[in-house]
Amino acid sequence: MKTAPLHTPPSKGIIIALDGPAGSGKSTTARRVAEALGYIYIDTGAMYRAITLAALREERSLTNSDLAPIVQEYRLELTVSPDGQRTILGREDVTNEIRSPEVTKMVSAVSALPSVREAMTKRQREMGQNGGVVMDGRDIGTVVFPEAELKVFLIASLEERAKRRLAELAGTDSSKPDDERMTLEEMCHQIGERDKQDTERLVSPLRKAFDAIEIDTSQLSIDEQTERILILARERIDKNS
Ligand code: DC
Repeated sequence: MKTAPLHTPPSKGIIIALDGPAGSGKSTTARRVAEALGYIYIDTGAMYRAITLAALREERSLTNSDLAPIVQEYRLELTVSPDGQRTILGREDVTNEIRSPEVTKMVSAVSALPSVREAMTKRQREMGQNGGVVMDGRDIGTVVFPEAELKVFLIASLEERAKRRLAELAGTDSSKPDDERMTLEEMCHQIGERDKQDTERLVSPLRKAFDAIEIDTSQLSIDEQTERILILARERIDKNS
């Protein structure tokens, strides 16, 4: 399948920063908003996941000094393809593997390390510097692009986020019998732990930028979330042109 480098400069446009906790609907909404505007969608969580996968494969201890070389050595690339963003580590397409439970379990610890954050932030700034991007993550509006023209912070109740994640897993993991799937309580616990790690870390913690617009997605459909953001984005685009 033909892919194009994600950091090919798109036609000039604004930067849209979409932050929020796991399961708040960021990635689906960000992808839809990008499609509607003809912008590039960048899932920054995939970058932290790819570094986590590399660290697990090399059986490194998850410390700042142990992971600093990995970040430097591995070529990490995000590409666009007809079925969405692909994540390439070295020469390997790891798009599916970075969603494994092992990676999900460790990614918050890896993404708290200063050496990892520094390198990823630098890459993300390079990718978005020409505008025309929708970037989703935890610190895009606060650290990566504090000057983004539009910042949105998505939230949703823990239970709602856990239900969405379970529905997603049921869709992708039909090989598992029902009794091997996580319960709602287990998923609430797992997401709650990630929230805690992501918001309490010292470097670039998950928090709403003072000038971000907060949208509670608990009662909203993906179409409604997308529409709300598109209205805000078009206002900013008009103002910018
Ligand atoms: O969006 P996600 O669940 O794929 O993100 C995986 C992890 O990566 C998340 O637990 C926190 C981290 N992350 C981050 O620290 N900063 C970002 N900009 C994006 C993700």
